[in-house]
Order: sequence, then structure tokens, then C-alpha cells
Amino acid sequence: MSYQIAIDGPAGAGKSTIAKKIAKEKAFIYVDTGAMYRAMAYYLFSQRINPEDDALVGEKCQEADITIQYEGGEQVVLLNGENVNAHLRTEEVGNMASFTSKNPKVRERLTALQKNLASKNNVVMDGRDIGTCVLPGADVKVYLTASAQVRAKRRFDELSAKGEACDLQKIEEDIIKRDEQDMNREIAPLKQASDAVLIDSSYMTIEEVVKEILALCR
Ligand code: DC
Repeated sequence: MSYQIAIDGPAGAGKSTIAKKIAKEKAFIYVDTGAMYRAMAYYLFSQRINPEDDALVGEKCQEADITIQYEGGEQVVLLNGENVNAHLRTEEVGNMASFTSKNPKVRERLTALQKNLASKNNVVMDGRDIGTCVLPGADVKVYLTASAQVRAKRRFDELSAKGEACDLQKIEEDIIKRDEQDMNREIAPLKQASDAVLIDSSYMTIEEVVKEILALCR
């Protein structure tokens, strides 16, 4: 049986940073499920599909073959055979992913892929519905959150460090909008699984969070 660590939480809570460190520490693979939803959104966007057209999104998503490979420990997302990692981290693709991930056909495809990966490998998987839907029997479940204000400030610092012009107020508004969309959708909304441990990282360092999760694994 594989060992499964599920980390869910809202955008910008630090899930991927923490999950990568835990995966490294435990020599597990890190599965970034958000990147899969982003790759799907990127595909739909590049095909100029109207994200509000549910039937068309449901049909077109069947054409996107999304797979995951690991190169030097890094997750590489292949979309119809092409490495699309470089296109996934923009705000535009993130917002589109939050929107198109509401579609049941999109979720069905990606959830199957995620379950398959976790059945064959020891994983640290992060997302929105991992503890509730994808891996309900995970060995460790964490719901990682932080206040919208703190999450916006972290994102602002990250973009500023890259030299990108950005507006703190607008980032916070986008985060709140994305939370609402992810928490209130009909299928697999973002919520804390009843058996997940809540960690609020607002006033914790990355190392403190990693330490707490590693302790849960013991
Ligand atoms: O974690 P992220 O920002 O890369 O995720 C992008 C969007 O994808 C997120 O707003 C909602 C969706 N998503 C999802 O619905 N289920 C997941 N397990 C992961 C992401």
C-alpha cells in the first residue's frame, strides 16, 4: 500500500512550498493537482473555448491528454505530449482554472489520473479536494490556511521579487474571489475534511509548518 499525505487549502496558503519540502524529506513524489487543472484551463484557453459554455468545456476537455512526469524530482506536466510548465503559473491561467474546474467532466478526468498516481507511489498531494474526494483514505490529512490578507501579501512579495508590477489590493480581491469560487462550487468544493488537521500558517514560518506535518506522519 502506498503512503498518502493530502494537503488542501485555499490559494496562496503555501501548500506547494510545504508539500515539496515534505516530499523531499520523505522521498515521496509531490503531486501538484492545481497544475493539472491549470494545464486543462490552458488547453481550453488556447483553443479559445468559452469557459462559461459547460457543454463545450465538457466535450473539449476530453481532447486534452494530461500526464505527469518527474525530471530531477520536479513535476513536469505534459499536455498532449508537450511540457507546459512554463505557461501554468500566471494569474490569468489560475483564475481560468478556478472557473473551469467546476466542470464535472474536467474533475472526472483529473481525479482519475490523481488516484492512479497515488495508488502506485508514496505521495504528498496538494489541492482543494484531496482529503475529501481524491484520497479519502489518506494516511495524513492537513487543511492548510492563512488569512486572505497574509496570503495576498505573500503573493505580492513573490511577484515584486520577480520584478513584476502588482497591486496588493487587487491581489487580495482576486484571492477572495477565488476562495469563494473554490468553496462554493457544486462538485468537490474546497472544505476541510472532517478528519483533517487544521494548520493556520498566518503567523508560522515554513519550517514550523513542515515540522508540524512531519510530526503528524510519525
Ligand atoms: O492550487 P492552484 O492555485 O494551482 O489551483 C488552481 C485552481 O484549480 C484552483 O483555484 C481550483 C482548481 N483546483 C481544484 O479544483 N482542485 C484541485 N485539487 C486543485 C486545484
